Amino acid sequence: MAVPFVEDWDLVQTLGEGAYGEVQLAVNRRTEEAVAVKIVDMKRAAECPENIKKEICINKMLNHENVVKFYGHRREGATQYLFLEYCSGGELFDRIEPDIGMPEHEAQRFFQQLIAGVVYLHSMGITHRDLKPENLLLDERDTLKISDFGLATVFRHQGRERRLSRMCGTLPYVAPELLRRPEFRAEPVDVWACGVVLTAMLAGELPWDQPSDTCQEYSDWKEHKTYLPPWKKIDSAPLALLHKILMESPSARITIPDIKKDRWFSRPLKKGVKRAQGSSGGVCDSPGGFSKPVRSDMDFSPGKSVLGEDRAGYSTSQPELGTLWDSGANTIDRLVQGISFSQPARPEHMLLSSQLLGTPGSSQSPWQRLVKRMTRFFTKLDAEGSYRALREACEKMGYGWKKSCTNQVTISTTDRRNNQLLFKVSLVEMESKILVDFRLSKGDGLEFKRHFLKIKGKLSDIISTQKVWLPAT
Ligand code: ADE
Repeated sequence: MAVPFVEDWDLVQTLGEGAYGEVQLAVNRRTEEAVAVKIVDMKRAAECPENIKKEICINKMLNHENVVKFYGHRREGATQYLFLEYCSGGELFDRIEPDIGMPEHEAQRFFQQLIAGVVYLHSMGITHRDLKPENLLLDERDTLKISDFGLATVFRHQGRERRLSRMCGTLPYVAPELLRRPEFRAEPVDVWACGVVLTAMLAGELPWDQPSDTCQEYSDWKEHKTYLPPWKKIDSAPLALLHKILMESPSARITIPDIKKDRWFSRPLKKGVKRAQGSSGGVCDSPGGFSKPVRSDMDFSPGKSVLGEDRAGYSTSQPELGTLWDSGANTIDRLVQGISFSQPARPEHMLLSSQLLGTPGSSQSPWQRLVKRMTRFFTKLDAEGSYRALREACEKMGYGWKKSCTNQVTISTTDRRNNQLLFKVSLVEMESKILVDFRLSKGDGLEFKRHFLKIKGKLSDIISTQKVWLPAT
């Protein structure tokens, strides 16, 4: 029996983009389920079809509370669509205040969840190889989810471990042995990256460009100069754990079972975990011009519904599951199998309703809690005035400026480590106010945020201080 709108999924927001393509938020018009759709153009690189196959294969193996769920995939010509759990809390790096970090009990909780996810991956013989705050997403309850298995690989199969040799990852997070040795073990490399993530959470900065002796900050760490930043900002208990994790020799490095026994790690959690302050989420991007009929040409996957497998313990992040089962296959299965995406029925309503999010007493459907980002603000000016003020500030500060399309510019610079940094800024009109929304396109997330704060500081005169209610989660 046909259920009205069961087949209608609106692509409502760009969640992220990278070299592979982009991730869009798809929302079911009837059930309001939200799903992240990773769209990969396989023509981008010769090795892409192989890589994406591996990413899909690894995703299919995984099912854990702290790993982004995979619902299935579909191919359309040279485009692969991966359907993934939507994490409405955004990226972990958005909870890190540059040069400050976050409250220690929050960092502890996120770190415990990160370790739980990594324990699971390793138990399945999988190493992620690119753990960093940009790849750690949060759901609406602030549960951490490991995301993006584009660089992941199998390091243990049928009980036999293989050593790795490929250099991959992100320099500030890679372990020293990867830069030195022809071969290295997989697990200690992920453990190291977790240590760098913990440092970023506790100090709001990365400890070094790369862990090599040519890097002064790394030499200082090895010489125990913990009176220097970032270490001097970190309390002795978590610092003691970091000493054990960021240990140069992989064989001397702490293992996960021992991390679990660490004094700071296993300290009882503070009650009533507070949310990170300052997030100004709850508004969405301009919906953009996506209206692509997508018909399945193949690939009904996964065989079993991933959703179906853990329905009992499922969180509220994918809403109203109870309503899905009256229509035969659930709506996400149908999406995977090839239902058309369409434009939002009333895009303007999406924007308006998201502005009403925090109005006390208003009921808020989960998909409306569009990704929370701190990197946005409202202005007091009209679109024209906001655009001009932003352009003037950026040009004065020496940023590269390029209009990418209507209402969007790409700003370019280099960060403190001389790496390229690209971010896109969208200007969206919402109820006669202009929202200026910054999104990282290329480069380090913490650096991006530092630059955002600099630009925001320069524009303080035109920023509206009128409160926009935050979604309470
Ligand atoms: N960005 C990339 N993947 C995402 C996801 N699954 N949920 C929310 N934002 C994302």
